[in-house]
Amino acid sequence: MWLARAAVARRSLTVTSLAYSPRFFLRQPILLRGGTVVNADQSFGADVLLSDGLIRAVGPSLKAPKGALVLDATGQLVLPGGVDPHTHLEMPFMGAVSVDDFASGHAAALAGGTTFHLDFVLPVAHDLLAGYAAWQRKASRGCLDYGLHVAVTSWSERVAVDMETLVQGGVNSFKFFMAYKGALMVSDAELLAGMRQCRKLGALAMVHAENGDAVEDGRTAVFASGVTGPEGHALSRPAALEEEATGRAIRLAASVNAPLYVVHVMSAGAAAQLAAARARGQRVVGEAVLSGLVLDQSAMWHPNFTTAAAAVMSPPIRQLAVDGVALKGALVSGILGPLGTDHCAFNSSQKAAGRADFRLIPNGVNGLGERLVFAWDALVASGLGTPMDFVRATSTAAAQAFNLYPRKGHIAVGSDADVVLFDPAGSTSVSAKTHFSKSDTNVYEGRTAQGRVTHTISRGRLLWADGALVCQPGTARFVPTPPFSPWLFSGLDAQDRGQAEGRRPVHRDAAHELHEEL
Ligand code: URP
Ligand code: ZN
Ligand code: ZN
Repeated sequence: MWLARAAVARRSLTVTSLAYSPRFFLRQPILLRGGTVVNADQSFGADVLLSDGLIRAVGPSLKAPKGALVLDATGQLVLPGGVDPHTHLEMPFMGAVSVDDFASGHAAALAGGTTFHLDFVLPVAHDLLAGYAAWQRKASRGCLDYGLHVAVTSWSERVAVDMETLVQGGVNSFKFFMAYKGALMVSDAELLAGMRQCRKLGALAMVHAENGDAVEDGRTAVFASGVTGPEGHALSRPAALEEEATGRAIRLAASVNAPLYVVHVMSAGAAAQLAAARARGQRVVGEAVLSGLVLDQSAMWHPNFTTAAAAVMSPPIRQLAVDGVALKGALVSGILGPLGTDHCAFNSSQKAAGRADFRLIPNGVNGLGERLVFAWDALVASGLGTPMDFVRATSTAAAQAFNLYPRKGHIAVGSDADVVLFDPAGSTSVSAKTHFSKSDTNVYEGRTAQGRVTHTISRGRLLWADGALVCQPGTARFVPTPPFSPWLFSGLDAQDRGQAEGRRPVHRDAAHELHEEL
């Protein structure tokens, strides 16, 4: 392995998106007065002072520095800015390019109280570094902090070396697709090799867990049976195939003692696999996504093709009363978490490519702008969980998994000044006519959620205030995610040593054996 790696020359990374000027918007301190701070571990009344991009003070009756902007937070919750671990902005996929770029995606995020997200880089012709460079160029159009996961869609020594280069360049997570056969899917052997490399580099192996061979078989069979509409998407990818792949990924990860992150867990069965693995002591993280908590698969049976196709994503949205209930319970109890969106928006004209064949509908739904209020509605306003559970799910858990805590995901002195003022008594209504996404549909169309994001502050810049938005292109900032997140990696070496003990070769002495035989 080492010899082979030496033979593959290390390539360098190109980062072109750091047009961000740290002085932009940062001159004015902000004092948030009289609110209730909510962190994942506690909630308390306090003022919060922000300046030069950081939280400078948290406590009672803080004095406003000269020239500070003072915001009255009475009756409001002061939350760490939302962290969305799963987005796809301007991503080429299934013959289309997702419609939200980093400008519109960041605008939607800001209006919805998300101040940091991790987007998925797709390699260019399996080239990870080329994909990374392309994503950094796209990200330069945004205005928020972001991080990057990189998808691994093939396996070779080149890929292994490039993963190492990427970790040095600030990427600590790699996604492996167990589905999308013939496009992004990797074999079990490739997945295992990738997991082993992640373990070595201190990176987190992420999986899209569906049995890609069985999904392909199901798609062919369902289409051949005469079902051509969006409902065919749900029928061809049953929950059992997600549960099987989730269990398989968990066991493969266990075999190389690698932490595992399962993206977009959509079924009760897959969540049960993760719960069982955690009960065995395995380092696994299961990500819930908003659509799985709030929507029902019946959307794909809607008589209007555009409405039905808008809800097509993978794994499919399942039964709200069964899977949705189980996912919400798992999220508030900490079995699942973080909560992402898998924001991958397509226009109705793009989705129309599959009007006669559901297999051609680009997969993906929106959610970046809606995540916080619908999570509040489903998890807290419903009475299921606490405001602290909500903060853990929407912010802290992702910051920990990707090793940015307490810089992100926490309100404390020294953390980034990414803060949201949230009115729990307010409400938010959703429509494609008013949202910031470029998509002409919204899977939450016509719904109203309890809770309202009144202000969003990113790096100490007030960028969303009561309906007014500032998202200056060129002010995005790449935030490197360091390897070996202690939340997932600490103690693993000791486990490795324990396993190595049992693996010691047995010394067999030929003379002794001969003596025994005689
Ligand atoms: O349908 C989805 N989830 N689209 C985005 C790609 C992925 O699998 O995450
Ligand atoms: Zn996926
Ligand atoms: Zn995704």
